[in-house]
Amino acid sequence: MDEESPWWKEATVYQIYPRSFNDSDGDGVGDIPGIIERVDYLDDLGIDAVWLSPVYGSPHVDNGYDVSDYRAIAEEYGTMADWERLRSELHDRGIRLIMDLVINHTSVEHEWFVDARQSSDSDYREYYFWRSGETDEKDDDRDDGSQPNNWRALWGGPAWTYDDATDEHYLHLFHDRQAELNWENEAVREELFKVAEWWLDRGVDGFRLDSINLISKPDELPDADPEEGLTGLHEVVNGPRVDEYLRAFCRRLGNDVVTIGEMPDLSVEEARRYVGDKDENLSMLLSFEHVELDRGTGARWAPRDWELPKLKRVIERWQEGLADGGWQGLYFNNHDQPRAVSRLGDEEHRRASATALATLLFTLRGMPLLYQGEELGMTNPRFDRFEEIRDVATRLSVEHAIDLGNISGFEEVRELINNRTRDNARTPMQWSAATNAGFTDGEPWIKLNDNYERVNAEREWSDPDSVWQNYRQLIELRNEHPVLVHGEFDLLLPEHPELFSYVRTLNDERVLVVLNFSSKTPMFELPDDVVFESVETLYHNGLRSDPHSVVEADTTLRPWEASVYRLS
Ligand code: GLC
Repeated sequence: MDEESPWWKEATVYQIYPRSFNDSDGDGVGDIPGIIERVDYLDDLGIDAVWLSPVYGSPHVDNGYDVSDYRAIAEEYGTMADWERLRSELHDRGIRLIMDLVINHTSVEHEWFVDARQSSDSDYREYYFWRSGETDEKDDDRDDGSQPNNWRALWGGPAWTYDDATDEHYLHLFHDRQAELNWENEAVREELFKVAEWWLDRGVDGFRLDSINLISKPDELPDADPEEGLTGLHEVVNGPRVDEYLRAFCRRLGNDVVTIGEMPDLSVEEARRYVGDKDENLSMLLSFEHVELDRGTGARWAPRDWELPKLKRVIERWQEGLADGGWQGLYFNNHDQPRAVSRLGDEEHRRASATALATLLFTLRGMPLLYQGEELGMTNPRFDRFEEIRDVATRLSVEHAIDLGNISGFEEVRELINNRTRDNARTPMQWSAATNAGFTDGEPWIKLNDNYERVNAEREWSDPDSVWQNYRQLIELRNEHPVLVHGEFDLLLPEHPELFSYVRTLNDERVLVVLNFSSKTPMFELPDDVVFESVETLYHNGLRSDPHSVVEADTTLRPWEASVYRLS
């Protein structure tokens, strides 16, 4: 491929959420030896790199996104020797390893915080944000005016928690056991860089940087504007020095080390602060606009109607906005998002809609990131009772809503939560039709999706038309056609309510993508300005025997039909 290009531009990444991937010791929790058992599976799929969600020392309030020791492996996941073996097994197969660096906050059990909270004179005090409340009154969990400012934590409740040892509050934008690190303090930036360096010395190939546009808080931590919805998030994302800190961090890592910045609440204009071709920027970012289209602005779980033209516009805006040098991670699934087949596709057309979504993912400019189970077409499970919910964000926000009297109980929001909860992505990987889907011999930490006897890896392998086989083909297709990686993006039929179609162009290579993004049977008419002499089918999701006919004649498409053509 392009010799100028760093490896990560042409890579496909596979995300592993270790808790739910594969359990080797029967404790019901996935672990590193379990991942090692499945390395050949990853190799067969053809991915280039694994992004491993956190495996560090952690009390697991947020399943490892609350780190208590950056240089250790959580006991329930294995040992450092297991991790080293995993790294070697991956590297032996030419698969790179990307670690998840959670450095916007630490667990309150991290030794820095443990020391910091003991005394105002602690050497680590300034590693975090400590402030007095406006009154001396010791507040409980309510936003009663005694907080240092009016910020709300993302999952509900105030963003400050009172600590009586020093009679001050500390800042946390997520759970109160995840304290925000103070990046204004140079010692913090240095310590965090040393953590990254420590993992680089152990052979990792890059980092996914968690919530990384939250690291620079606005000077003086001003009150949020109630008009903006009173969350802390809007006040703290893309703060004044995010780009300065990231540039310094990335410059020291070097351009061979991939840095993937997770950036909520980011517009494409702002994104340009963080990515570009210069060695010193992030390699790429993960934005949210395309997965927020169905999210309402009021209450946390509120849905919003969206239509395909909106999604197309968002994708077009990002494709064009970063075209001159920026790079983005492409995704529809991860450990925080509901399953895309259930959300954007149609479970009634599971195979067709899963493969249509995959076709979109692999034919956009950027780097595709798959999330475990996506390649099997896994769908959202069903949570009937609050006790079945494991996700701390879901649990907290329901509890807060009940506390505040906004809802009377879980039942009232059950459907909304079933659509949205992060647990949708976290049910165990479905390996086979055996007990517990072959995930564990013990009692799984979270319920399984009931459909595992029908939807599982063993079945997918043996079926030549399966979702898995299509993912494998699409990964290969992208490897063979640099136009899919680097080409310009031109949207066709922007207002069409069912069709998602575009042309990718690189030098004299031209590829046309035609997706029926619906369960209807719309007619595809190629716009007149797309002229060609001959057409070659590069990929088709198997729904007709003569895929050429889609382009050669005005044709009605099958539900979720997807194809990729080379035009010449
Ligand atoms: C990121 C992670 C999410 C986590 C949060 C706090 O958004 O993806 O899982 O809860 O950061 O670390």
